[in-house]
Amino acid sequence: MDILGKHGVIERNASLLLTLSLVVVCIGGIVEVAPLFYLQNTIEKVEGMRPYTPLELAGRDIYVREGCYVCHSQMIRPFRDEVERYGQYSLAAESMYDHPFQWGSKRTGPDLARVGGRYSDEWHVEHLTNPQSLVPESIMPKYGFLAETTLDTNNIEGSLKANAMVGVPYSQDAIQSAQADLIAQATPDADTSGLLARYTNVRAEDFDGDPRRITEMDALVAYLQMLGTLVDFTTYDAKANYR
Ligand code: HEC
Repeated sequence: MDILGKHGVIERNASLLLTLSLVVVCIGGIVEVAPLFYLQNTIEKVEGMRPYTPLELAGRDIYVREGCYVCHSQMIRPFRDEVERYGQYSLAAESMYDHPFQWGSKRTGPDLARVGGRYSDEWHVEHLTNPQSLVPESIMPKYGFLAETTLDTNNIEGSLKANAMVGVPYSQDAIQSAQADLIAQATPDADTSGLLARYTNVRAEDFDGDPRRITEMDALVAYLQMLGTLVDFTTYDAKANYR
């Protein structure tokens, strides 16, 4: 009897067909899942990635609070049109410290994964205050109140602690210095030596144009200005990660 004939036996017996199907699906499942238990990490290591500074983290919380993700994604897909418009496609490692991630599913506005450094701080403040003054046809809401709201820094230590609990490598030192680091990053002429020792590639300046106090605008602009700037793609070798 040839193999096709035997197959007929299976197809005519519903219970046997179900049992064997289950066996096949199980084998497929094990082949897919088992290697994950033996991998140290499913995210390739990329040089330059670091946890958010306290000020950026506070800005990120405001980004989430205001629902910016409803209109903006933060994931450049590996398609030619996206890469030409936004730059190098996003790597998994670039969002490994994001809790929750901001990949997004809708682009009413452009992707923001690499908006850092593309515009000046002044541009961002003006755009967030009144988007239509820069892009007349924009439907983005106005967020001018952020510049009038002093940033609440009391919870920043807890915020770093919470992130550390879910795996972001904040040291004890970084957690204890959270408030001082936050203030140093947004205060002109402040002593930033501690901040710069703990975090690489940091922009420390008066982000909102008001040096007298630290506002929610300072935090949000600091966050926007670092997006996508940590990995140096002029030296990044994509092929090295696929060996
Ligand atoms: C209702 C949808 C909507 C929401 C909510 C929204 N935006 Fe936008 N955003 C847009 C649109 C549309 C544009 C493109 C036109 C423009 O530049 O204003 C845009 C543009 C931008 C740009 C310029 C991007 C570029 O590459 O030119 C930035 C930065 C930005 N938004 C940040 C934010 C932040 C931060 C928030 C939350 C505080 C936010 N947006 C909330 C719709 C939105």
